[in-house]
Amino acid sequence: MADASQKVPTLGADLKGQTAIVTGGATGIGKAIATALAAHGVRIVIADLDQAAARKAAADLGSGNAAFGIDVSQRASVEKTFAEIEQALGGYEILIANAGVSTMNRAVDLTDEEWDFNFAVNIKGIFLTNQAAVRYFERTKKKGVIVNTASLAGKVGAPLLAHYSASKFAVLGWTQALAREVAAQGIRVNAVCPGFVKTSMQEREVAWEARLRGLTPEQVIRDYVNQTPLGRLEKPEDVAGLAVFLCSDAARFMTGQGINVTGGVYMG
Ligand SMILES: NC(=O)c1ccc[n+]([C@@H]2O[C@H](COP(=O)([O-])OP(=O)(O)OC[C@H]3O[C@@H](n4cnc5c(N)ncnc54)[C@H](O)[C@@H]3O)[C@@H](O)[C@H]2O)c1
Repeated sequence: MADASQKVPTLGADLKGQTAIVTGGATGIGKAIATALAAHGVRIVIADLDQAAARKAAADLGSGNAAFGIDVSQRASVEKTFAEIEQALGGYEILIANAGVSTMNRAVDLTDEEWDFNFAVNIKGIFLTNQAAVRYFERTKKKGVIVNTASLAGKVGAPLLAHYSASKFAVLGWTQALAREVAAQGIRVNAVCPGFVKTSMQEREVAWEARLRGLTPEQVIRDYVNQTPLGRLEKPEDVAGLAVFLCSDAARFMTGQGINVTGGVYMG
């Protein structure tokens, strides 16, 4: 019998006909990943706290794609929504666990509320959604794929984002540990680490950072670009190709990785 691992995979060709759940897929990086996967023939389920935006994003991708409301930080919401998705669509092969939030403050001024909010969505949300998907993959004996959205701030400590940074370092620890646990079942778990990406999250951060550092928003953006060897702000679409690659058979021998896609801001 031919050994499939000796064939050089064609990037993304194997994705056609698969189904992907994209959390936080209503906008920004999640929406760009959903769009790129859809272009490779993947049926998309946008799962987002903002139900109206999720419905619009799914409609933008065309018929056959779906939208569900979810709060990734709440076990009951995750379990209910993942069960409904399984029921309505007959299953899925890919989870893009991308929903995330940020607030900005000096570490000495951080409140419990800011800490808890960032950790509830950014790492508990990864735990709950990854667990739901792995339980489903194990029950159905599927070799599923998970891609978690971590961050540049999960590789190097980001000033004014100590709580966010800590939550994103946690995402990479979780990704590595889970990848080791489920590798024997053929389930792969990786993470993407974007840099300074132009999204609504960045808009909010620029306003906070300008106030906290006594700069204009334009100066903050110039600072981001100056830190980026490739010389511009990152776009959500810059992350999407990496996510497609990690989902596809082209990345079949990669698991437990946190891949930087930052325009060179971080090269470690
Ligand atoms: N923008 C950046 O510079 C940047 C850099 C590195 C990593 N990231 C990460 O990328 C991911 C996407 O960020 P973005 O910039 O596109 O942000 P965004 O704010 O533009 O979009 C985030 C989406 O997540 C949804 N969401 C928020 N809380 C949720 C919850 N509890 N349950 C379900 N959905 C929820 C929002 O409704 C929104 O649609 C996040 O994990 C973020 O931490 C962003």
